[in-house]
Amino acid sequence: MMRRGLVVGNWKMHGMNADLPKICEIAEGAAANPGVDVALCLPATLIERAHRVAPGLPIGGQDIHQKREGPYTGSVSAGMLLDAGARLSIVGHSERRAALRESDADIRAKAETGFEAGLGVILCVGESAEVRRSGQAVAEVEAQLRACLPRGAVDDPFRLAIAYEPIWCIGTGTIPTLLEIMEMHAVLRSGLLVAFGPRAAEIRILYGGSVNAANARTIFALPEVNGTLVGGASLDSHEFTGILRAAAVQI
Ligand code: PGA
Repeated sequence: MMRRGLVVGNWKMHGMNADLPKICEIAEGAAANPGVDVALCLPATLIERAHRVAPGLPIGGQDIHQKREGPYTGSVSAGMLLDAGARLSIVGHSERRAALRESDADIRAKAETGFEAGLGVILCVGESAEVRRSGQAVAEVEAQLRACLPRGAVDDPFRLAIAYEPIWCIGTGTIPTLLEIMEMHAVLRSGLLVAFGPRAAEIRILYGGSVNAANARTIFALPEVNGTLVGGASLDSHEFTGILRAAAVQI
Protein backbone atom coordinates (compact mmCIF):
# COMPACT_ATOMS: atom_id res chain seq x y z
CA MET A 1 0.00 0.00 0.00
CA MET A 2 1.25 3.41 -0.97
CA ARG A 3 -0.18 6.15 1.26
CA ARG A 4 1.38 9.49 0.40
CA GLY A 5 1.17 12.39 2.83
CA LEU A 6 -1.55 14.94 2.06
CA VAL A 7 -1.38 18.60 3.09
CA VAL A 8 -4.44 20.72 2.33
CA GLY A 9 -4.84 24.44 2.91
CA ASN A 10 -8.27 25.85 3.76
CA TRP A 11 -8.40 29.57 3.08
CA LYS A 12 -11.96 29.89 4.45
CA MET A 13 -13.40 33.36 3.62
CA HIS A 14 -10.05 34.83 2.62
CA GLY A 15 -8.54 35.34 -0.82
CA MET A 16 -8.70 38.08 -3.43
CA ASN A 17 -7.05 38.79 -6.76
CA ALA A 18 -4.11 40.33 -4.88
CA ASP A 19 -3.42 36.93 -3.29
CA LEU A 20 -2.72 35.12 -6.57
CA PRO A 21 1.08 35.55 -6.18
CA LYS A 22 0.79 33.79 -2.81
CA ILE A 23 -0.94 30.88 -4.54
CA CYS A 24 1.94 30.74 -7.02
CA GLU A 25 4.41 30.61 -4.10
CA ILE A 26 2.45 27.72 -2.59
CA ALA A 27 2.51 25.95 -5.97
CA GLU A 28 6.30 26.38 -6.05
CA GLY A 29 6.53 24.94 -2.52
CA ALA A 30 4.42 21.98 -3.63
CA ALA A 31 6.60 21.40 -6.70
CA ALA A 32 9.70 21.45 -4.49
CA ASN A 33 8.22 18.67 -2.30
CA PRO A 34 7.09 16.09 -4.84
CA GLY A 35 6.77 13.31 -2.28
CA VAL A 36 3.73 14.98 -0.69
CA ASP A 37 0.27 15.60 -2.16
CA VAL A 38 -0.76 19.23 -1.74
CA ALA A 39 -4.06 21.00 -2.38
CA LEU A 40 -5.52 24.40 -1.63
CA CYS A 41 -9.24 24.84 -0.88
CA LEU A 42 -10.28 28.34 -1.86
CA PRO A 43 -13.41 30.47 -1.95
CA ALA A 44 -15.41 29.54 -5.08
CA THR A 45 -14.78 32.99 -6.57
CA LEU A 46 -11.03 32.41 -6.71
CA ILE A 47 -10.90 28.82 -7.96
CA GLU A 48 -10.78 29.49 -11.67
CA ARG A 49 -8.13 32.23 -11.40
CA ALA A 50 -6.02 30.12 -9.03
CA HIS A 51 -6.25 27.20 -11.44
CA ARG A 52 -5.14 29.47 -14.28
CA VAL A 53 -2.08 30.90 -12.48
CA ALA A 54 -1.05 27.60 -10.85
CA PRO A 55 -2.31 24.79 -13.13
CA GLY A 56 -0.14 22.16 -11.44
CA LEU A 57 -1.56 22.78 -7.96
CA PRO A 58 -4.78 20.90 -7.16
CA ILE A 59 -7.40 23.47 -6.18
CA GLY A 60 -10.46 22.62 -4.12
CA GLY A 61 -13.72 24.12 -2.92
CA GLN A 62 -14.84 24.38 0.70
CA ASP A 63 -18.36 23.00 0.35
CA ILE A 64 -20.62 21.22 -2.14
CA HIS A 65 -24.39 21.46 -2.35
CA GLN A 66 -26.15 18.11 -1.92
CA LYS A 67 -28.07 18.46 -5.18
CA ARG A 68 -26.59 18.47 -8.66
CA GLU A 69 -28.50 21.62 -9.69
CA GLY A 70 -31.69 23.49 -8.95
CA PRO A 71 -33.29 26.41 -7.17
CA TYR A 72 -30.69 26.83 -4.39
CA THR A 73 -29.76 30.51 -4.38
CA GLY A 74 -26.16 31.16 -3.44
CA SER A 75 -25.06 27.52 -3.52
CA VAL A 76 -22.31 25.91 -5.58
CA SER A 77 -22.63 22.39 -7.01
CA ALA A 78 -19.95 19.74 -7.44
CA GLY A 79 -20.24 20.11 -11.20
CA MET A 80 -19.64 23.86 -10.92
CA LEU A 81 -16.52 23.30 -8.85
CA LEU A 82 -15.20 20.85 -11.43
CA ASP A 83 -16.09 23.22 -14.25
CA ALA A 84 -14.09 25.99 -12.52
CA GLY A 85 -11.04 23.72 -12.34
CA ALA A 86 -11.38 22.28 -8.83
CA ARG A 87 -10.44 18.67 -8.21
CA LEU A 88 -11.65 18.26 -4.63
CA SER A 89 -13.73 19.81 -1.89
CA ILE A 90 -14.02 19.93 1.86
CA VAL A 91 -17.39 18.83 3.27
CA GLY A 92 -18.70 18.96 6.84
CA HIS A 93 -16.33 21.58 8.22
CA SER A 94 -17.37 22.39 11.79
CA GLU A 95 -17.77 26.08 10.93
CA ARG A 96 -20.53 25.09 8.49
CA ARG A 97 -21.99 22.44 10.79
CA ALA A 98 -22.34 25.13 13.48
CA ALA A 99 -23.24 28.29 11.57
CA LEU A 100 -25.34 26.70 8.81
CA ARG A 101 -26.74 23.83 10.87
CA GLU A 102 -25.52 21.18 8.47
CA SER A 103 -26.51 17.75 9.74
CA ASP A 104 -24.63 14.47 9.34
CA ALA A 105 -27.22 13.45 6.72
CA ASP A 106 -26.59 16.67 4.74
CA ILE A 107 -22.86 16.08 4.91
CA ARG A 108 -23.14 12.51 3.72
CA ALA A 109 -25.26 13.68 0.79
CA LYS A 110 -22.67 16.35 -0.04
CA ALA A 111 -19.86 13.80 0.11
CA GLU A 112 -21.76 11.38 -2.14
CA THR A 113 -22.63 14.08 -4.67
CA GLY A 114 -19.00 15.19 -4.77
CA PHE A 115 -17.78 11.64 -5.14
CA GLU A 116 -20.22 10.84 -7.93
CA ALA A 117 -19.18 13.98 -9.80
CA GLY A 118 -15.55 12.85 -9.66
CA LEU A 119 -14.19 15.21 -7.02
CA GLY A 120 -11.89 14.24 -4.18
CA VAL A 121 -13.68 14.69 -0.85
CA ILE A 122 -12.24 15.75 2.49
CA LEU A 123 -14.77 14.85 5.15
CA CYS A 124 -14.34 16.72 8.46
CA VAL A 125 -15.28 15.31 11.84
CA GLY A 126 -14.46 16.54 15.33
CA GLU A 127 -15.82 17.15 18.82
CA SER A 128 -16.50 20.35 20.74
CA ALA A 129 -14.68 21.30 23.96
CA GLU A 130 -17.78 20.43 25.93
CA VAL A 131 -17.97 16.94 24.45
CA ARG A 132 -14.25 16.44 25.06
CA ARG A 133 -14.69 17.47 28.72
CA SER A 134 -17.63 15.10 29.13
CA GLY A 135 -15.49 12.13 28.01
CA GLN A 136 -17.65 11.51 24.93
CA ALA A 137 -15.19 12.63 22.24
CA VAL A 138 -14.48 9.18 20.83
CA ALA A 139 -18.14 8.16 20.76
CA GLU A 140 -19.14 11.43 19.09
CA VAL A 141 -16.46 11.32 16.39
CA GLU A 142 -17.14 7.63 15.67
CA ALA A 143 -20.83 8.42 15.27
CA GLN A 144 -20.07 11.35 12.93
CA LEU A 145 -17.86 9.13 10.79
CA ARG A 146 -20.48 6.38 10.54
CA ALA A 147 -23.22 8.85 9.66
CA CYS A 148 -21.27 10.88 7.09
CA LEU A 149 -19.20 8.33 5.15
CA PRO A 150 -20.15 8.41 1.47
CA ARG A 151 -21.28 5.09 0.04
CA GLY A 152 -19.13 3.95 -2.83
CA ALA A 153 -16.04 5.71 -1.54
CA VAL A 154 -14.13 2.47 -1.28
CA ASP A 155 -14.18 2.05 -5.05
CA ASP A 156 -11.63 4.85 -5.09
CA PRO A 157 -10.26 5.21 -1.55
CA PHE A 158 -7.54 7.59 -2.61
CA ARG A 159 -10.22 10.18 -3.44
CA LEU A 160 -11.51 10.28 0.14
CA ALA A 161 -9.70 11.78 3.12
CA ILE A 162 -10.98 12.17 6.66
CA ALA A 163 -9.96 15.29 8.59
CA TYR A 164 -10.08 15.00 12.36
CA GLU A 165 -10.55 18.56 13.54
CA PRO A 166 -11.35 19.01 17.24
CA ILE A 167 -13.40 22.21 17.28
CA TRP A 168 -11.61 23.51 20.37
CA CYS A 169 -8.33 23.47 18.43
CA ILE A 170 -9.47 25.32 15.29
CA GLY A 171 -7.95 28.78 15.17
CA THR A 172 -7.14 28.71 18.88
CA GLY A 173 -3.41 28.00 18.85
CA THR A 174 -4.13 24.91 20.98
CA ILE A 175 -3.58 21.34 19.84
CA PRO A 176 -4.70 18.18 21.65
CA THR A 177 -2.12 16.07 23.45
CA LEU A 178 -0.28 13.72 21.12
CA LEU A 179 -2.00 10.85 22.90
CA GLU A 180 -5.41 12.35 22.15
CA ILE A 181 -4.54 12.72 18.45
CA MET A 182 -3.19 9.16 18.31
CA GLU A 183 -6.25 7.74 20.02
CA MET A 184 -8.69 9.48 17.68
CA HIS A 185 -6.78 8.59 14.52
CA ALA A 186 -6.69 4.94 15.58
CA VAL A 187 -10.44 5.05 16.20
CA LEU A 188 -11.02 6.59 12.77
CA ARG A 189 -8.83 3.99 11.05
CA SER A 190 -10.78 1.17 12.71
CA GLY A 191 -14.07 2.84 11.78
CA LEU A 192 -12.97 3.03 8.14
CA LEU A 193 -11.84 -0.60 8.13
CA VAL A 194 -15.16 -1.71 9.60
CA ALA A 195 -17.09 0.33 7.04
CA PHE A 196 -15.07 -0.48 3.94
CA GLY A 197 -12.82 -3.46 4.64
CA PRO A 198 -9.09 -3.69 3.90
CA ARG A 199 -9.09 -1.11 1.09
CA ALA A 200 -9.85 1.53 3.71
CA ALA A 201 -6.19 1.32 4.67
CA GLU A 202 -5.57 3.63 1.70
CA ILE A 203 -7.86 6.43 2.92
CA ARG A 204 -5.82 9.27 4.37
CA ILE A 205 -6.63 10.57 7.84
CA LEU A 206 -5.60 14.18 8.37
CA TYR A 207 -5.27 16.08 11.62
CA GLY A 208 -6.50 19.71 11.55
CA GLY A 209 -6.53 22.49 14.13
CA SER A 210 -3.74 25.02 14.81
CA VAL A 211 -1.13 23.17 12.77
CA ASN A 212 1.88 25.34 11.91
CA ALA A 213 5.43 24.85 10.66
CA ALA A 214 6.71 24.50 14.25
CA ASN A 215 4.37 21.74 15.46
CA ALA A 216 3.78 19.86 12.18
CA ARG A 217 6.68 17.45 12.44
CA THR A 218 5.72 16.17 15.88
CA ILE A 219 2.14 15.63 14.75
CA PHE A 220 3.16 13.93 11.48
CA ALA A 221 5.36 11.50 13.41
CA LEU A 222 2.26 9.95 15.03
CA PRO A 223 0.89 6.67 13.69
CA GLU A 224 -2.16 7.04 11.42
CA VAL A 225 -1.56 10.75 10.88
CA ASN A 226 -1.35 10.92 7.09
CA GLY A 227 -1.36 14.67 6.66
CA THR A 228 -3.16 17.81 7.70
CA LEU A 229 -5.91 20.31 6.93
CA VAL A 230 -4.50 23.76 7.63
CA GLY A 231 -6.50 26.96 8.13
CA GLY A 232 -4.68 30.08 9.35
CA ALA A 233 -1.15 28.92 8.57
CA SER A 234 -2.08 28.21 4.92
CA LEU A 235 -2.61 31.95 4.37
CA ASP A 236 1.13 32.47 4.84
CA SER A 237 2.98 30.81 1.96
CA HIS A 238 6.24 30.47 3.93
CA GLU A 239 4.51 28.90 6.92
CA PHE A 240 2.52 26.57 4.67
CA THR A 241 5.65 25.55 2.77
CA GLY A 242 7.27 24.77 6.13
CA ILE A 243 4.40 22.37 6.83
CA LEU A 244 4.90 20.74 3.40
CA ARG A 245 8.58 20.25 4.15
CA ALA A 246 7.73 18.66 7.49
CA ALA A 247 5.35 16.28 5.73
CA ALA A 248 7.99 15.39 3.15
CA VAL A 249 10.42 14.44 5.92
CA GLN A 250 8.06 12.77 8.34
CA ILE A 251 5.14 11.07 6.56
P1 PGA B 1 -6.67 26.37 11.78
O1 PGA B 1 -8.00 25.83 11.04
O2 PGA B 1 -5.50 25.70 11.14
O3 PGA B 1 -6.70 27.86 11.55
O4 PGA B 1 -6.80 26.01 13.22
C1 PGA B 1 -8.09 24.52 10.62
C2 PGA B 1 -9.40 24.31 9.87
O5 PGA B 1 -10.40 24.92 10.23
O6 PGA B 1 -9.43 23.53 8.91
